[in-house]
Amino acid sequence: MKTMKAVCIYSYGGPEVLVYEDAPRPHPDAGEVLVRVHAAGINPVDWKIREGHLKETLHHTLPLVLGWDVSGVVEALGSGLTRLKLGDEVFSRPDISRDGAYAEFIVIREAEVALKPKSIDHIHAAALPLAGLTAWQTLFDAAGLAAGQRVLIHAAAGGVGSLAVQLAKGKGAHVIGTAAAHNHDFLRKLGADQVVDYDTERFEDAVQPVDVVLDTIGGDTQERSWQVLKPGGILVSVVSPPLAATAAVHGVRQAFVFTQPNAGQLAELARLADAEKLKAIVETVLPLSDATRGQELSARGHTRGKIVLRVV
Ligand SMILES: NC(=O)c1ccc[n+]([C@@H]2O[C@H](COP(=O)([O-])OP(=O)(O)OC[C@H]3O[C@@H](n4cnc5c(N)ncnc54)[C@H](OP(=O)(O)O)[C@@H]3O)[C@@H](O)[C@H]2O)c1
Repeated sequence: MKTMKAVCIYSYGGPEVLVYEDAPRPHPDAGEVLVRVHAAGINPVDWKIREGHLKETLHHTLPLVLGWDVSGVVEALGSGLTRLKLGDEVFSRPDISRDGAYAEFIVIREAEVALKPKSIDHIHAAALPLAGLTAWQTLFDAAGLAAGQRVLIHAAAGGVGSLAVQLAKGKGAHVIGTAAAHNHDFLRKLGADQVVDYDTERFEDAVQPVDVVLDTIGGDTQERSWQVLKPGGILVSVVSPPLAATAAVHGVRQAFVFTQPNAGQLAELARLADAEKLKAIVETVLPLSDATRGQELSARGHTRGKIVLRVV
């Protein structure tokens, strides 16, 4: 049996349950590709799954390889593939219910894979899929953000936020972001029209009414967000489902998004990256064997852009 280096969990728990080890190398079935992983992005969902928060929803079988952001090269093909060939450089946000990308190899359905942006390296390409699809599916699919509309993006300096700011600006929206003061210049350079320091200002006082709120924080931030929406506006959360009854009281709409794999949208993100209209922000690069440290950094909640594991 061929093996590979991988970071697995055998039980749910703290960072100590992450095991860097030799694991069986997976094989692609029909409709799947084997990808040699060059880089794997770290996302908050990785440590949330490790801690067991999603075990009732996702029903993972353990041991599980974590990590659902990948950039790499097609190493082997299952039968019946239509688009991809050996040696293609690809990126993906694969199915989160299966083994992930903290590994030297991953099997992914062809329908979840797109050619990676040509102009950026694997490290930066691995920073795009999950956060980029989340920004796309919240702003465009759920909220229908249009040119001229106003959008408030919470945690604008984070993985999702830093891409959402750029996508919203590229759409022609007026973009407002919340962030600590040290991130304000960074966000203005990404295209934010207004930045609110959540430490010293209440955004509901500082922001004129908006058409869309992207909630990446939940809790009190989500509660206070209702009052900044225009009548008919929409609060989209990726953290906790906003209450329909509360939306009705405010005369607005609500949505919860759980990001889905989408090769077509990945291809669009790649096109924007190659056109220099979307920049992947990578704050920290660590070796695969340092996934524990990467997850601990991510869990602190103040990453600017992304943390990425280098595998090759
Ligand atoms: N439902 C889904 O499918 C889905 C998909 C993607 C993400 N998510 C969830 O969305 C959340 C954000 O994900 P992410 O990858 O963007 O996280 P992230 O990159 O870890 O976010 C870090 C950012 O949050 C900012 N931040 C922390 N507290 C803040 C506050 N009170 N107000 C404003 N900004 C604050 C920090 O900026 P400062 O340093 O300026 O504080 C930092 O830049 C996570 O909970 C994640 O699990 C859900």
